[in-house]
Amino acid sequence: MLIKKRRGWELPERTATPEATFLNRRQLAKGLAAGSILLAGGSLFAGRSNAATEVDPTADLYPVKLNGKYEIDRMLTEPKYALTYNNYYEFGTHKGIAQLAQKLEIRPWTVLIDGMVEKEQMVDVDTLIRAMPLEERLYRHRCVEAWSMTVPWSGFPLAALVDYAKPLSGAKFIRMETVVQEETMPGLRSSWYPWPYVEGLTMAEATNELAFIATGLYGAPIAKQNGAPLRLVTPWKYGFKSIKSLVRFTFTDQRPVGFWEEIQGSEYGFWANVNPEVSHPRWSQAHETVLGTNEKVPTLLFNGYGDYVADLYKGMENERLYM
Ligand code: MTE
Repeated sequence: MLIKKRRGWELPERTATPEATFLNRRQLAKGLAAGSILLAGGSLFAGRSNAATEVDPTADLYPVKLNGKYEIDRMLTEPKYALTYNNYYEFGTHKGIAQLAQKLEIRPWTVLIDGMVEKEQMVDVDTLIRAMPLEERLYRHRCVEAWSMTVPWSGFPLAALVDYAKPLSGAKFIRMETVVQEETMPGLRSSWYPWPYVEGLTMAEATNELAFIATGLYGAPIAKQNGAPLRLVTPWKYGFKSIKSLVRFTFTDQRPVGFWEEIQGSEYGFWANVNPEVSHPRWSQAHETVLGTNEKVPTLLFNGYGDYVADLYKGMENERLYM
C-alpha cells in the first residue's frame, strides 16, 4: 500500500487560506521587483507533481532520510515560491523562467569527470546518483540580490563525488560546468554572456561537509528550473555559486573563473562568501527579503554557517573573500 508521508513543509501549504496565499504573493511581487513571478491561477504546474517526477528514473529514491544535523531557525519556504521564482539565465534573465525550463532535456544525461584525476570518466547520471549516499538537508540560501529562501534539498555531499573521482594530489580546485542545450535554452542566444555557466571551488571548500550536490528538492527529484538533475549547493556563499544542471567536473590546479566573475569581476568574485558588512558595489548586503513572506531580516556572516566554514579562510585576509 502506498503511504504518503507528510513532511514539515507541507503544513503551511495545507493550512494557508487562499487569501493569505494571495496576499503573500502580492507582497512578494511588490517587494521583489527584480522580475516577474509566475502566478498560475489554481494549480502551479510545479507543485510536487512537477514534470520531472513523472519522467525521472530516480523518482523511486525519494523521499530520502533527513540529516537533522543541519538545523535551521527559519520557516521553510513554501514550494510554490522556490519553484517559481528562479535565476536560470540560460532560460532568460527574469525570475519567471520555470515554465520555459520544462523544455530542458534531463535524460539521457552524462557527467564528465576529467582533468587531474586518476582516470577520466563519463558517467551516466542515474548510475552516479544511485552510487551516492543520498540524504536530505534543510539549508538556507542567500542570493547576492538580497533575497533568501530555506528549502529541503536531497542529494549527496560533494566530498562523496570527490572520492568517486579520485583526484590527483596536485588538484587544487574543481571547475563545474552547466549543460549547453541550444535547442531548449533561449538565453544562450544572448551571445554576450560567456556560456557555458561555470563555477568553481577550492578542494578544501568542495570537501567541506556543507558542500552538497542536490538531486532532489521537497522530497522529490529536483525540478528543472532549480537545476535538474544535479546542482551545487554551498549555503555559506551567495547563490550564484550554486551552479545548476551540471555536466562536467574538472579537477585542476588553476583557479576557475566563474560566469559572473567573467562578466563583472569587480562585483562578483571567486569566493563570494556571504557577509552583511561587505556591500555589493550597488547595494547593501546587510539585510535580505525572505521569499514568500517578504519579511526583511538581517543577513548573517557566512549566512549563519561560520562554525562549519570560517576556518577555511584563516590567513586569507588579502583575498576578496566576500564578493
Ligand atoms: N546556474 C546556472 N546554470 N544559471 C544561472 O543563471 N543562477 C544562480 C544559481 N545557479 C544560475 C545558476 C543564481 S544567481 C542563484 S540565486 C541560484 O542559482 C538560484 O537558484 P534557484 O532558482 O533554485 O532559487
